[in-house]
Amino acid sequence: MKTIFSGIQPSGSVTLGNYIGAMKQFIELQEDNNCYFCIVDQHSITVPQDRLELRKNIRSLAALYLAIGIDPSKSTLFIQSEVPAHAQAGWMLQCVAYIGELERMTQYKDKSAGKEAVSAGLLTYPPLMAADILLYNTDVVPVGEDQKQHIELTRDLAERFNKKFNDILTIPEPRIPKDGARIMSLTEPTKKMSKSDPNVKSYITLLDDPKQIEKKIKSAVTDSDGIVEYNRTEKPGVSNLLSIYSVITNQPIEKIVDNYKGKGYGEFKADLAEVVVNALKPIQDKYNYYINSEELDRILDLGAEKANVVAGKTLKKMETAMGLGRKRR
Ligand code: TYM
Repeated sequence: MKTIFSGIQPSGSVTLGNYIGAMKQFIELQEDNNCYFCIVDQHSITVPQDRLELRKNIRSLAALYLAIGIDPSKSTLFIQSEVPAHAQAGWMLQCVAYIGELERMTQYKDKSAGKEAVSAGLLTYPPLMAADILLYNTDVVPVGEDQKQHIELTRDLAERFNKKFNDILTIPEPRIPKDGARIMSLTEPTKKMSKSDPNVKSYITLLDDPKQIEKKIKSAVTDSDGIVEYNRTEKPGVSNLLSIYSVITNQPIEKIVDNYKGKGYGEFKADLAEVVVNALKPIQDKYNYYINSEELDRILDLGAEKANVVAGKTLKKMETAMGLGRKRR
């Protein structure tokens, strides 16, 4: 049995990219591992957030975790800001990290590009993410491809900490899915599908209704040759749609390509919309149950309680290793 940790930011809606790249793995992993799934609200405030929206999004993400199948009797589900050890260990790891390596993170470069003022938190975000992971003695971190660099930094920070202070931190491995690790934007298929994209047509959220899903897939950018074929460089739009179809239906891409031989994009897109609508329907039904339930609060209370115990223990060890505080008699 391994320890698994992963987190999702409650900033905006959860997209099909988040689901396929990360959340689908969570369900498989919770069956025979010790899993922690986190709503990383402190990561969200590295960019400006509306207070009421943020609160709404935190609850919504918690309900979605349960709706996709996270089972609180098997996994620990909690909110990052309700476990203070994350910010405390995050600070300690900031003091282990070098500014140069943080400046080299591609996500930081992308998010800060062209901005006049960015928060210091945007730069120091990866040590907080490292703290999230390391506090639970995590073996495996299931994520989409865009987080790989942050996991590599987490490993570097843990190794540096162990060498400098005391060998107490577990070195985690990323787990990136073979298919669907990078779902692309529907409107600009050479860019990652992202919930922070200002164009809502570029992404499908797990809570979109059937009409919205149909419209977005119908208007997804493809190409003019009309052949359903997989080629990421020449045909990024159709290839992205094929990936989505394949992961959701668990069918190999070649089989889908075969089925659509001689048929146009219209039929392929209509079928894909149906596939997505049908996959999201049970998730949306469960979401509607959880979002206003007291059960959701009970699950999050219990999750925070369990997470505080485990994270608190690692934090104490880290503080002792670094020489913080006092030795208790
Ligand atoms: P976030 O909130 O941006 O995304 C959550 C998860 O979804 C994956 N993902 C995608 N996968 C495939 N295709 C896409 N288009 C796509 N967009 C997003 C991400 O790779 C991620 O796995 N820094 C993290 C949150 C975090 C975290 C952690 C993750 C904080 N602490 C500790 C793991 C462990 C983030 O911003 O993810």
